[in-house]
Amino acid sequence: MSLQLGLIGFPIKHSLSPWIHEQFLQRTKLSGVYDIIEIDTNASFSDAMEKLKNSQINGFNVTVPYKEKIIPYLDAIDEQAEKIGAVNTVKCESGKWTGYNTDGAGYVRSLWSKYPHLQEEKASNILLLGAGGAAKGIYHALLYHGYRNIVIANRTIDKAEAIISNTNEGKVATLDKVANDLHDYDVIIQTTSVGMRPNIAQSVIPLRHLHKDVIVSDIVYQPLKTNILQEAENLGAHIHFGHTMLLYQAQYAFEIWTGKTPEMSGLDGALQNILEG
Ligand code: ATR
Repeated sequence: MSLQLGLIGFPIKHSLSPWIHEQFLQRTKLSGVYDIIEIDTNASFSDAMEKLKNSQINGFNVTVPYKEKIIPYLDAIDEQAEKIGAVNTVKCESGKWTGYNTDGAGYVRSLWSKYPHLQEEKASNILLLGAGGAAKGIYHALLYHGYRNIVIANRTIDKAEAIISNTNEGKVATLDKVANDLHDYDVIIQTTSVGMRPNIAQSVIPLRHLHKDVIVSDIVYQPLKTNILQEAENLGAHIHFGHTMLLYQAQYAFEIWTGKTPEMSGLDGALQNILEG
Protein backbone atom coordinates (compact mmCIF):
# COMPACT_ATOMS: atom_id res chain seq x y z
CA MET A 1 0.00 0.00 0.00
CA SER A 2 1.22 3.48 -0.83
CA LEU A 3 0.55 6.06 1.86
CA GLN A 4 -1.16 9.32 1.06
CA LEU A 5 -0.20 12.01 3.53
CA GLY A 6 -0.33 15.77 3.40
CA LEU A 7 -0.57 19.17 5.00
CA ILE A 8 -3.46 21.63 5.07
CA GLY A 9 -3.02 25.30 5.91
CA PHE A 10 -2.44 28.70 4.33
CA PRO A 11 0.05 29.84 3.18
CA ILE A 12 2.12 26.63 3.11
CA LYS A 13 4.00 26.62 -0.21
CA HIS A 14 7.32 26.96 1.64
CA SER A 15 6.57 24.40 4.36
CA LEU A 16 9.43 22.13 5.40
CA SER A 17 7.05 19.28 6.30
CA PRO A 18 7.16 17.59 2.85
CA TRP A 19 10.94 17.38 3.06
CA ILE A 20 10.83 15.98 6.62
CA HIS A 21 8.18 13.36 5.85
CA GLU A 22 9.93 12.29 2.66
CA GLN A 23 13.01 11.58 4.81
CA PHE A 24 10.81 9.54 7.16
CA LEU A 25 9.25 7.56 4.30
CA GLN A 26 12.71 6.69 3.00
CA ARG A 27 14.06 5.81 6.45
CA THR A 28 11.13 3.54 7.29
CA LYS A 29 11.12 2.07 3.76
CA LEU A 30 7.43 2.87 3.35
CA SER A 31 6.12 4.01 0.01
CA GLY A 32 3.96 7.08 -0.10
CA VAL A 33 3.62 10.77 -0.79
CA TYR A 34 3.23 13.86 1.39
CA ASP A 35 1.40 16.62 -0.47
CA ILE A 36 0.85 20.30 0.15
CA ILE A 37 -2.91 20.90 0.20
CA GLU A 38 -3.18 24.66 0.41
CA ILE A 39 -6.67 25.91 1.29
CA ASP A 40 -7.08 29.60 0.60
CA THR A 41 -8.70 31.46 3.48
CA ASN A 42 -11.18 32.89 0.94
CA ALA A 43 -12.24 29.40 -0.17
CA SER A 44 -14.90 27.26 1.54
CA PHE A 45 -13.22 25.19 4.28
CA SER A 46 -16.18 22.81 4.50
CA ASP A 47 -15.99 22.12 0.74
CA ALA A 48 -12.28 21.42 1.09
CA MET A 49 -12.97 19.01 3.99
CA GLU A 50 -15.69 17.24 2.01
CA LYS A 51 -13.24 16.71 -0.82
CA LEU A 52 -10.61 15.39 1.58
CA LYS A 53 -13.15 13.01 3.21
CA ASN A 54 -13.85 11.57 -0.23
CA SER A 55 -10.17 11.09 -1.00
CA GLN A 56 -7.87 8.17 -0.18
CA ILE A 57 -5.80 10.17 2.31
CA ASN A 58 -4.38 8.21 5.28
CA GLY A 59 -3.45 11.18 7.40
CA PHE A 60 -2.58 14.84 7.29
CA ASN A 61 -1.05 17.66 9.27
CA VAL A 62 -2.93 20.85 10.00
CA THR A 63 -1.24 24.20 10.36
CA VAL A 64 -2.30 27.85 10.65
CA PRO A 65 -5.00 29.03 10.37
CA TYR A 66 -6.94 25.72 10.64
CA LYS A 67 -5.78 24.02 13.88
CA GLU A 68 -9.03 24.89 15.67
CA LYS A 69 -11.28 25.04 12.64
CA ILE A 70 -10.63 21.35 11.86
CA ILE A 71 -12.10 20.14 15.17
CA PRO A 72 -15.82 20.00 14.15
CA TYR A 73 -14.85 17.77 11.20
CA LEU A 74 -13.29 15.09 13.42
CA ASP A 75 -14.97 11.86 14.55
CA ALA A 76 -12.73 11.62 17.62
CA ILE A 77 -10.11 13.70 19.39
CA ASP A 78 -7.17 12.64 21.50
CA GLU A 79 -7.32 13.78 25.14
CA GLN A 80 -4.23 16.00 24.91
CA ALA A 81 -5.45 17.70 21.73
CA GLU A 82 -8.79 18.31 23.39
CA LYS A 83 -7.11 19.96 26.38
CA ILE A 84 -5.00 22.12 24.08
CA GLY A 85 -8.02 22.93 21.91
CA ALA A 86 -6.01 22.60 18.71
CA VAL A 87 -5.20 19.76 16.31
CA ASN A 88 -2.13 19.53 14.07
CA THR A 89 -2.37 15.87 13.03
CA VAL A 90 -5.33 13.86 11.71
CA LYS A 91 -5.35 10.11 11.22
CA CYS A 92 -7.89 8.85 8.66
CA GLU A 93 -8.90 5.23 9.08
CA SER A 94 -11.93 3.49 7.57
CA GLY A 95 -13.50 6.88 6.90
CA LYS A 96 -13.06 8.03 10.52
CA TRP A 97 -10.91 11.05 11.37
CA THR A 98 -9.09 11.26 14.72
CA GLY A 99 -7.32 14.48 15.75
CA TYR A 100 -4.08 14.75 17.71
CA ASN A 101 -1.71 17.50 18.71
CA THR A 102 1.96 16.59 18.35
CA ASP A 103 3.42 20.10 18.71
CA GLY A 104 3.91 20.15 22.48
CA ALA A 105 4.84 16.48 22.75
CA GLY A 106 7.23 16.92 19.82
CA TYR A 107 8.81 19.86 21.57
CA VAL A 108 9.41 17.78 24.71
CA ARG A 109 10.92 14.98 22.59
CA SER A 110 13.24 17.48 20.93
CA LEU A 111 14.36 18.81 24.31
CA TRP A 112 14.97 15.29 25.64
CA SER A 113 16.87 14.30 22.51
CA LYS A 114 19.46 17.00 23.26
CA TYR A 115 19.25 16.95 27.07
CA PRO A 116 18.27 13.38 28.07
CA HIS A 117 18.88 14.03 31.77
CA LEU A 118 15.74 16.21 31.83
CA GLN A 119 13.63 13.05 31.51
CA GLU A 120 14.58 12.23 35.08
CA GLU A 121 14.43 15.78 36.44
CA LYS A 122 10.73 16.35 36.83
CA ALA A 123 11.32 18.85 39.63
CA SER A 124 13.05 21.25 37.23
CA ASN A 125 11.87 24.83 37.43
CA ILE A 126 10.61 25.70 33.98
CA LEU A 127 9.83 29.13 32.62
CA LEU A 128 7.63 29.47 29.55
CA LEU A 129 7.88 32.87 27.88
CA GLY A 130 4.67 33.54 25.92
CA ALA A 131 1.10 32.31 26.15
CA GLY A 132 0.03 31.69 22.56
CA GLY A 133 -0.96 28.41 20.93
CA ALA A 134 2.58 27.05 20.98
CA ALA A 135 3.02 27.78 24.69
CA LYS A 136 -0.29 26.09 25.47
CA GLY A 137 0.73 22.91 23.65
CA ILE A 138 4.12 22.81 25.35
CA TYR A 139 2.59 23.50 28.77
CA HIS A 140 0.19 20.56 28.47
CA ALA A 141 2.93 18.27 27.17
CA LEU A 142 5.16 19.21 30.11
CA LEU A 143 2.32 18.51 32.56
CA TYR A 144 1.59 15.20 30.82
CA HIS A 145 5.22 14.17 31.34
CA GLY A 146 5.10 15.00 35.03
CA TYR A 147 6.71 18.43 35.25
CA ARG A 148 4.97 20.52 37.85
CA ASN A 149 7.12 23.58 38.53
CA ILE A 150 6.14 25.68 35.55
CA VAL A 151 5.72 29.44 35.37
CA ILE A 152 4.14 31.08 32.32
CA ALA A 153 5.14 34.70 31.74
CA ASN A 154 3.41 36.75 29.10
CA ARG A 155 2.94 40.36 28.03
CA THR A 156 -0.84 39.83 28.31
CA ILE A 157 -1.21 38.15 31.67
CA ASP A 158 -4.85 37.07 31.08
CA LYS A 159 -3.68 34.73 28.32
CA ALA A 160 -1.24 33.05 30.70
CA GLU A 161 -4.03 32.76 33.30
CA ALA A 162 -6.30 31.18 30.71
CA ILE A 163 -3.74 28.47 29.96
CA ILE A 164 -3.29 27.40 33.56
CA SER A 165 -6.97 27.62 34.52
CA ASN A 166 -8.52 24.17 35.01
CA THR A 167 -5.15 22.50 35.49
CA ASN A 168 -4.56 23.24 39.20
CA GLU A 169 -0.91 23.53 38.27
CA GLY A 170 1.50 26.22 37.22
CA LYS A 171 1.85 29.89 38.02
CA VAL A 172 1.79 33.04 35.98
CA ALA A 173 4.01 36.10 36.12
CA THR A 174 4.75 39.27 34.22
CA LEU A 175 7.70 39.42 31.84
CA ASP A 176 9.28 42.14 34.03
CA LYS A 177 9.03 39.98 37.14
CA VAL A 178 10.64 36.90 35.61
CA ALA A 179 13.35 38.99 33.93
CA ASN A 180 14.52 39.85 37.44
CA ASP A 181 14.29 36.29 38.75
CA LEU A 182 15.91 34.28 35.98
CA HIS A 183 18.34 32.53 38.36
CA ASP A 184 15.28 30.60 39.68
CA TYR A 185 14.90 28.59 36.46
CA ASP A 186 16.58 25.44 35.16
CA VAL A 187 14.90 25.61 31.75
CA ILE A 188 13.73 28.76 29.95
CA ILE A 189 11.53 28.19 26.90
CA GLN A 190 10.94 31.15 24.56
CA THR A 191 7.68 30.65 22.63
CA THR A 192 6.79 34.18 21.49
CA SER A 193 7.33 35.46 17.97
CA VAL A 194 9.84 38.03 19.23
CA GLY A 195 13.22 37.67 17.54
CA MET A 196 11.79 36.07 14.42
CA ARG A 197 13.05 37.31 11.07
CA PRO A 198 13.04 40.22 10.14
CA ASN A 199 13.19 41.51 13.75
CA ILE A 200 16.25 39.49 14.60
CA ALA A 201 17.78 42.01 17.00
CA GLN A 202 14.91 41.67 19.50
CA SER A 203 14.50 39.48 22.59
CA VAL A 204 11.31 39.17 24.61
CA ILE A 205 13.28 39.77 27.84
CA PRO A 206 16.91 40.62 28.50
CA LEU A 207 18.88 37.70 29.97
CA ARG A 208 20.89 38.23 33.12
CA HIS A 209 21.75 36.41 36.37
CA LEU A 210 21.16 33.00 34.85
CA HIS A 211 21.31 29.82 36.91
CA LYS A 212 24.46 27.76 36.34
CA ASP A 213 23.66 24.93 33.88
CA VAL A 214 20.44 26.60 32.71
CA ILE A 215 19.05 25.48 29.35
CA VAL A 216 17.65 28.27 27.18
CA SER A 217 15.41 27.10 24.37
CA ASP A 218 13.71 29.08 21.59
CA ILE A 219 11.00 27.67 19.35
CA VAL A 220 11.72 30.37 16.75
CA TYR A 221 13.96 28.87 14.05
CA GLN A 222 14.30 31.72 11.62
CA PRO A 223 17.03 32.66 12.33
CA LEU A 224 18.38 29.43 13.81
CA LYS A 225 20.33 31.23 16.50
CA THR A 226 17.95 33.92 17.70
CA ASN A 227 19.08 36.94 19.66
CA ILE A 228 18.02 35.40 22.97
CA LEU A 229 19.93 32.16 22.18
CA GLN A 230 23.01 34.18 21.28
CA GLU A 231 22.72 36.10 24.55
CA ALA A 232 22.27 32.83 26.44
CA GLU A 233 25.32 31.32 24.80
CA ASN A 234 27.38 34.41 25.62
CA LEU A 235 26.36 33.95 29.26
CA GLY A 236 27.51 30.33 29.24
CA ALA A 237 24.05 28.72 29.12
CA HIS A 238 23.20 25.53 27.24
CA ILE A 239 21.02 26.29 24.23
CA HIS A 240 18.35 24.42 22.32
CA PHE A 241 17.24 25.26 18.77
CA GLY A 242 13.65 25.65 17.55
CA HIS A 243 13.96 23.69 14.30
CA THR A 244 14.33 20.47 16.29
CA MET A 245 10.71 20.88 17.50
CA LEU A 246 9.68 20.82 13.84
CA LEU A 247 11.47 17.49 13.36
CA TYR A 248 10.08 15.79 16.45
CA GLN A 249 6.46 16.96 16.08
CA ALA A 250 6.70 15.43 12.60
CA GLN A 251 8.23 12.21 13.98
CA TYR A 252 5.32 11.79 16.39
CA ALA A 253 2.77 12.52 13.65
CA PHE A 254 4.42 9.93 11.38
CA GLU A 255 4.25 7.43 14.25
CA ILE A 256 0.52 8.08 14.65
CA TRP A 257 -0.11 7.49 10.93
CA THR A 258 2.17 4.51 10.37
CA GLY A 259 3.05 2.93 13.72
CA LYS A 260 6.72 3.38 12.81
CA THR A 261 9.22 5.68 14.54
CA PRO A 262 11.72 7.10 12.06
CA GLU A 263 15.34 7.18 13.11
CA MET A 264 16.46 10.82 13.47
CA SER A 265 20.25 10.81 13.07
CA GLY A 266 21.60 13.51 10.79
CA LEU A 267 18.25 15.22 10.24
CA ASP A 268 19.00 18.08 12.63
CA GLY A 269 22.11 19.08 10.65
CA ALA A 270 20.41 18.56 7.28
CA LEU A 271 17.50 20.79 8.28
CA GLN A 272 19.94 23.40 9.59
CA ASN A 273 21.61 23.44 6.18
CA ILE A 274 18.27 23.93 4.44
CA LEU A 275 17.29 26.75 6.79
CA GLU A 276 20.63 28.47 6.36
CA GLY A 277 20.15 28.28 2.59
P1 ATR B 1 1.70 30.92 18.46
O1 ATR B 1 0.46 30.17 18.11
O2 ATR B 1 2.83 30.73 17.49
O3 ATR B 1 2.13 30.68 19.87
P2 ATR B 1 0.33 33.38 19.03
O4 ATR B 1 -0.82 32.60 19.54
O5 ATR B 1 0.05 34.52 18.10
O6 ATR B 1 1.36 32.48 18.27
O7 ATR B 1 1.18 33.90 20.29
C1 ATR B 1 2.19 34.84 20.16
C2 ATR B 1 2.88 35.04 21.51
O8 ATR B 1 3.94 36.00 21.30
C3 ATR B 1 1.99 35.63 22.59
O9 ATR B 1 2.44 35.17 23.85
C4 ATR B 1 2.28 37.13 22.45
O10 ATR B 1 2.03 37.89 23.60
P3 ATR B 1 0.55 38.50 23.89
O11 ATR B 1 -0.27 37.34 24.36
O12 ATR B 1 0.74 39.53 24.91
O13 ATR B 1 0.07 39.05 22.55
C5 ATR B 1 3.75 37.07 22.20
N1 ATR B 1 4.27 38.31 21.60
C6 ATR B 1 4.17 38.70 20.31
N2 ATR B 1 4.78 39.89 20.12
C7 ATR B 1 5.28 40.26 21.34
C8 ATR B 1 6.04 41.37 21.82
N3 ATR B 1 6.43 42.36 21.00
N4 ATR B 1 6.38 41.40 23.13
C9 ATR B 1 6.02 40.42 23.97
N5 ATR B 1 5.30 39.31 23.58
C10 ATR B 1 4.94 39.25 22.30
